[in-house]
Amino acid sequence: MKLNKSIFALALLIISRLTVFAGEGMWIPMLLQELNEKEMQEMGFKLSAEDVYSINNSSMKDAILLFGRGCTAEIISKEGLLLTNHHCGFGSIQKHSSIEHDYLTDGFWAMNKKEELPNPGLTATLMIEMRDVTSEIFNGVNDKMTEAERNTMIKDNANALILGFEKDSPYKAKIMPFYEGNQYYMIITETFKDIRLVGAPPSNIGKFGGDTDNWMWPRHTGDFSLFRIYVGKDGKPAEYSEDNIPYTPKYHFPISLKGAKKDDFTLVFGYPARTEEYLPSFAVELITEIGNPQKIKLRETRLDIFTKYSDNNPEVRIKYATKHARVANYWKKMIGESAGIKRMSAIEKKKDYEKKFEKWVNSSDYTKNEFGGIISGFENYYSQLEPLSLALDYFSEDVMAMEVIKYSFGFRKLIELSNVKKPDEELINREVEKLKRATATFFKDYYKPIDKEVTAKMLMYYDENIDDLYKPEFYKEINKKYKGNYVDYANHIFEKSIFDDQNEIEELLNNYKPRDYKKLVKDPVYKISNEYYDIYLSKLKTPIANLYTKIDSLQRKYMKAQMEMEPGKRFYPNANFSLRVSYGKVEGYSPKDAVYYKPFTTLEGIMQKENPDIYDYVVEDRLKELYNNKDYGKYADKDGSLHVAFVASNHTSGGNSGSPVIDANGNLIGLNFDRCWEGTMSDIAYDPNVCRNISMDIRYFLFIVDKFAGAGYLVDEMDLVE
Ligand code: ARG
Ligand code: GLU
Repeated sequence: MKLNKSIFALALLIISRLTVFAGEGMWIPMLLQELNEKEMQEMGFKLSAEDVYSINNSSMKDAILLFGRGCTAEIISKEGLLLTNHHCGFGSIQKHSSIEHDYLTDGFWAMNKKEELPNPGLTATLMIEMRDVTSEIFNGVNDKMTEAERNTMIKDNANALILGFEKDSPYKAKIMPFYEGNQYYMIITETFKDIRLVGAPPSNIGKFGGDTDNWMWPRHTGDFSLFRIYVGKDGKPAEYSEDNIPYTPKYHFPISLKGAKKDDFTLVFGYPARTEEYLPSFAVELITEIGNPQKIKLRETRLDIFTKYSDNNPEVRIKYATKHARVANYWKKMIGESAGIKRMSAIEKKKDYEKKFEKWVNSSDYTKNEFGGIISGFENYYSQLEPLSLALDYFSEDVMAMEVIKYSFGFRKLIELSNVKKPDEELINREVEKLKRATATFFKDYYKPIDKEVTAKMLMYYDENIDDLYKPEFYKEINKKYKGNYVDYANHIFEKSIFDDQNEIEELLNNYKPRDYKKLVKDPVYKISNEYYDIYLSKLKTPIANLYTKIDSLQRKYMKAQMEMEPGKRFYPNANFSLRVSYGKVEGYSPKDAVYYKPFTTLEGIMQKENPDIYDYVVEDRLKELYNNKDYGKYADKDGSLHVAFVASNHTSGGNSGSPVIDANGNLIGLNFDRCWEGTMSDIAYDPNVCRNISMDIRYFLFIVDKFAGAGYLVDEMDLVE
């Protein structure tokens, strides 16, 4: 049948109008008005793009911060009170914890500003503005350049732009690529350096359900902690000082007591770290069918060993709390991700799409010239990458899992500085001081029996799974002298090495002379790490970098081509740790046949999960008392229950932890902290049926602070909207 073209176009238009909103997309705040505002308002948003992001007036973006190295936080009072997740504040809370003051277990509440605890090294960064600098960045770039020439030109242009900006600004600037390097933005930021801990619930609230419930819905975690930004007397960011004062923000979020109903509009504003939505099928296969299963196995081994030693030893439990949480988190994520990709047949769908794409490429001379060979190029490079990428995965998940071996990598520079004719004393001293600090940090959370056992296992897995080509010399010794007994070999190196002994290492550092490097070089632990490093340098680093240069260049062209192939489609750029907006609505989902998950959980569910014998499900008496008396105050829902968490269809990723969930009127209704397991593949492929973000209901937070902890004075500081 021949269809009149314009009728066809009209039909398409109608269909696309009718398509229900899918929740997919992490949008650039600066482009919201152009790309999203209309849709957001149709979905119920009562405000405008300008209320979210404005450079002339105060807007929501003035209250959103990149917290630490990987989370989001938002300002909720005019005195710089900062809300983020418990798991984002976890490291800081742990640092202040000891057996005597176990804030991790018992929670912490500063009863006044004087009691708030400083956290050296912790920062929070505000985005002041973003600017499209694509044309400046591409100035001088042309198609005849090699990839290396092109990259150099871009880097030079970027540096010039940054210098130009920073020379007359109090702020910092950086340039970030978007759309796989087809667009560039300058991101202008201000970083606060005095961030103090104000409050944290006990872990059986902040981490309720622990790793068992992690990445899962229905969820009952009160995953929050409170910090405060301090600045110098002049109101500007400053290093910690007792005289610093609370920061007065340009904007802070009002907090709604109304909660959210099913189908209500929601907006999440934060810092998603990394997504890879436009990968070819070959890459998805490599990640989900080869990389993930290997990493999952290696992490499982470590977790079993951590658990074995921490179960009946509170000191070890505290030491390994952060490590355990970190390893367990992505262990579980990868399982969910690989399963999700399979369930939605994402690889097959990508393959179909690639066929359609090839057809389009072959449809004209222009497209053939411009975009020919992309898919076959990917296929070729990814097949070359496979063995290298497996070895590289083993470097990060196996070699780096051996703690003293990883720690000994840190001594490379000192050895280099010492092993020269005329050692530079000043440089050496500086390095020694750095190593002293690293040593204190390392041993604070180190437990040798765990590391010994992990090391034996990691040596074994490497030997079993990695091609001989990438095996260091010492494996010969293991297999000959130790007859392949990795435990004996691990015992031997731990016995001979000084790297597992804080006193010996400190003694060496305290009296360091350049010739001491010889002792380090001979140390069996250092020898092992050095041999691994040589393999990395000689066999992995360069070939991998070269392949990625080619892959990145194809990925850039592939992105551009897709945008030309579907000119009517709105594309969003992959997450890259820049500030993004996602929007959706409160909605449940069906994870499998015959099952539907409602969008809310309540305190009732905490009591159903309660089990005093299981660490993850202990409920404190105080919380039970409030539950028994139904003492929820103004924090109860209209239905009389106390809501704890909810799910919504906002596209989020790692880094969105701690992001505010905002309602149609711009009030805070939730704190994002996770995704549901069935949807964890959304970093690679999004399925609107099951991809949901999980947030704590903001009323549960207020309830815990006020009713549970008796820290109502903090609530007084906030603007509650009835
Ligand atoms: N899955 C969440 C995220 O990716 C929470 C992680 C912390 N919680 C935990 N039980 N390990 O960060
Ligand atoms: N918990 C994650 C984080 O720390 C957010 C959950 C996700 O990956 O969506 O960033």
